[in-house]
Amino acid sequence: MDKVKYWEFINENGEFELEDPQKSSYLYFPIANEAGLMSSITPTLNGDIKSGQNTFLLLPVSAEDLHNTRSSRNFWINIKGYGPWSVSGNSPMQIGYTFRENSPEKVKLEAGFLWHKITRENSDLGIKAEVLNFAPADNHKVELMKVSITNTGEDTKTIVPTAAIPIYGRSADNLRDHRHVTSLLHRIKTTDNGVVVKPTLSFDERGHKINNVIYSVLGVEENGENPIGFFPEVEEFIGEGGNLECPEAVFCNKEPYAKPGDMFEGYEAIGAIRFKEVELLAGETKTFIVMMAINEDGDETENRVLISKYGSLEKIDRALDECKKYWDNKLKRPEFETGDEKFDKWMKWINLQPILRRIYGCSFLPHHDYGRGGRGWRDLWQDCLALLMMEPDEVRKLLYNNYAGVRIDGSNATIIGSKPGEFIADRNNIARIWMDHGAWPFLTTKLYLDLSGDLNFLLEEQEYFKDRLASRCSDFDETWTIEEGNKLKTFEGKTYKGTILEHILIQHLTPFFNVGMHNNIRLEGADWNDGLDMAPERGESVAFTALYGSNLIEFAKILKELKKRYSVNEIELAEEMLLLLDSLSSPINYDSVEDKVNLLNKYFNSCKSKISGRKVNVSIDELINDLERKGNWIINHIRNNEWIKNSEGYEWFNGYYDNSGNRVEGDHPNGTRMNLTSQVFTTMGGTATDEQIEKIIKSANKYLKDDKVGGYRLNTNYHEVKKDLGRLFGFAFGHKENGAMFSHMAVMYGNALYKRGYVEAGYEVINSIYSHCMNFEKSRIYPGIPEYINEKGRGMYHYLTGSASWLLLTVLTEMFGVKGELGDLVLEPKLIDKQFDNEGKASVIALFAERSIRVQYINRIKLNYGQYKIVSVSINGNKVECSICGNKVVIERKVIESLDINKLHNIVVELA
Ligand code: G1P
Repeated sequence: MDKVKYWEFINENGEFELEDPQKSSYLYFPIANEAGLMSSITPTLNGDIKSGQNTFLLLPVSAEDLHNTRSSRNFWINIKGYGPWSVSGNSPMQIGYTFRENSPEKVKLEAGFLWHKITRENSDLGIKAEVLNFAPADNHKVELMKVSITNTGEDTKTIVPTAAIPIYGRSADNLRDHRHVTSLLHRIKTTDNGVVVKPTLSFDERGHKINNVIYSVLGVEENGENPIGFFPEVEEFIGEGGNLECPEAVFCNKEPYAKPGDMFEGYEAIGAIRFKEVELLAGETKTFIVMMAINEDGDETENRVLISKYGSLEKIDRALDECKKYWDNKLKRPEFETGDEKFDKWMKWINLQPILRRIYGCSFLPHHDYGRGGRGWRDLWQDCLALLMMEPDEVRKLLYNNYAGVRIDGSNATIIGSKPGEFIADRNNIARIWMDHGAWPFLTTKLYLDLSGDLNFLLEEQEYFKDRLASRCSDFDETWTIEEGNKLKTFEGKTYKGTILEHILIQHLTPFFNVGMHNNIRLEGADWNDGLDMAPERGESVAFTALYGSNLIEFAKILKELKKRYSVNEIELAEEMLLLLDSLSSPINYDSVEDKVNLLNKYFNSCKSKISGRKVNVSIDELINDLERKGNWIINHIRNNEWIKNSEGYEWFNGYYDNSGNRVEGDHPNGTRMNLTSQVFTTMGGTATDEQIEKIIKSANKYLKDDKVGGYRLNTNYHEVKKDLGRLFGFAFGHKENGAMFSHMAVMYGNALYKRGYVEAGYEVINSIYSHCMNFEKSRIYPGIPEYINEKGRGMYHYLTGSASWLLLTVLTEMFGVKGELGDLVLEPKLIDKQFDNEGKASVIALFAERSIRVQYINRIKLNYGQYKIVSVSINGNKVECSICGNKVVIERKVIESLDINKLHNIVVELA
């Protein structure tokens, strides 16, 4: 086997190239636009194109299909005197080149934001093809493919070009459910440029609907000339006994049998487009343009628009430039400059990922072969973290809308509609609740408040979600009907609204009382780890109890500031909530599980169906006391009861109780059991003392660190299908939620360590992930962070992962320490010596208070973190008077707001 080639960045923009990309399996690249086109493409032009679960233009693919079927995008040339050659390498002869040493065919990938180019050259034949795919930055759901064929030989060549893109044209559900019957719905039309499929119905036995969606594959020559004919049915194109890698129409050089205006009914369709025969002189290049479009409005005129917009060499090149400009502009903030240029460029791909998840949800790339589009509640909030740093303008509205998904029992809607703030009742009434869900909105809202200082946001009023599920999904409200709608009503039938502050309170207070026998918050349907789903009765998540605890303390701090800044002395709350604020009237003993559960049930009974709508004023000081009392109780409880020491003398926090009510972590006959999650939230929020953190680091290094998987595993091997905890124990160890290096949690571990000042250890966590991803031979992924690294070291579920948001957050706000503190700008660098360049500089361009700022740290003698302190700060060359406290400086918001909104401002921070 040849030595594995690594991808290399080729310019400042983070564009990269990779030789022999087809020699790595499972590689895929996203092609998308804001119009909602979602594609995946591989080095052999496999992958799919869709705009949603029910509108796949190309056959839906899972990771295994990337090498099992090679029937995606193809473009053939039949060379006179030689025979057929595929630009994607999908002919029997070319597939055979994969393992041949000294193959006559060389393949190279180049890619950037968001375009993908494959160059395939056959030196024996003297032919080269460049195939470029991208989606224009426009309002069309179309993927464009520019195919340029060059005669690299010395003699003139005669070629017959044929595009061959099978059109699946229906819902992913029909892959197995009536694949054949749904082809009978196909109405296939040929036009001047291509093949257009409009199925008559969208097939669903619960109710067939007239279909309006049009799927098209169009072709045009570089000068705008139309093709000469078509083979629109798969069975005619491949011929009896043929297949898509060896189609009769191409291999027997058949005449196209369809002309513009023909109709075909009831067959599998293909955009097989024949262009006229071409004479290619030595050195000459000829380009063909293929368009793959989905039109959900049934608008037949769109195809003419597409041809007129992109149907020539000049036009497609212009569209590519605009696409590059669009993404460059989107991804330019934050931009990092450290001593490691590769890291800086890699971070650009991290910037892209949260935007990809906004477009694709969690469903539409080859590994993500589950779900039907959209995102879950947790992911919705995670992704907002990054958007706050990249696209802050819209985020206030987004956060506000998202709060409409909260139920009055502290749980939330789980089916999220496509429009902002749209939450849908689960018609199947699946009563599943994730106990961590209430904790994430606060973290995102806190980031928003820190960046903006907009504390008034907390006092805005928002509705609550309502459906049949009640009492944190442990009960049904039999009185509710779907006709009543999804908004919580008062007994008088009015839609109830409460402040955002009230929503956050409810999300924290109901879990606080919802404890299991060890007095930690119950695991319910699962926590962040979706795989911990088999301990709903007696399971407890200490890990997330810790997060709720620290949130309560942090929320109290914000309320103090609210009081100080706006002289708010009283807070208006739903009368029913007084029950949960027990310290205000008759404090209960938090050590008593029974008292907590009784109190919670009282609350649930008071709001199971509707609420009174009566509001009461609560003293903000008393509210703060109540929250602090609860938060501190949690912290002390965990410190005193969940700190464990094993027989080897290592110490860390236990994070879980299983459905048998047993403690999960520590010594076990099958081997030590330790989870990373349990350490992350205890460290991040302050439950762990400094002394404990040092012990946690040692234990994590001993039991969880493994270079094979790029750092810290999510858990040790339990050597058991632990049915009383969750499905994840059914997964092979070292994969996904069972002991992989799961990027999201690992990055949060890094974040927590930075937050608590354990900078070297935090750096180690982030750097181990980065280094592993860069090691292409092991990770086999393009630049970016995957959801996890598997047991063999391969990066899995690339692109669509919440870890990208957390990585961005960690690099910007912890490593570079550029962050907000309730509206003021804080600079608190935690960069280590090797992150500065040769001149001792490191900088980041970011957005703050709508201004673009370039924060440059100067550390001339390259001191390490801990050795340097901030000595001076200047903005655009003028020294700033600000309060420096060791390694931290606070610059008042008004200073930043006084800067010109249209310029980039240089903030220089001298370290010494
Ligand atoms: C995924 C899910 C996330 C969940 C995690 C662990 O992580 O999207 O909600 O918490 O698995 O089960 P991600 O893909 O965001 O890395």
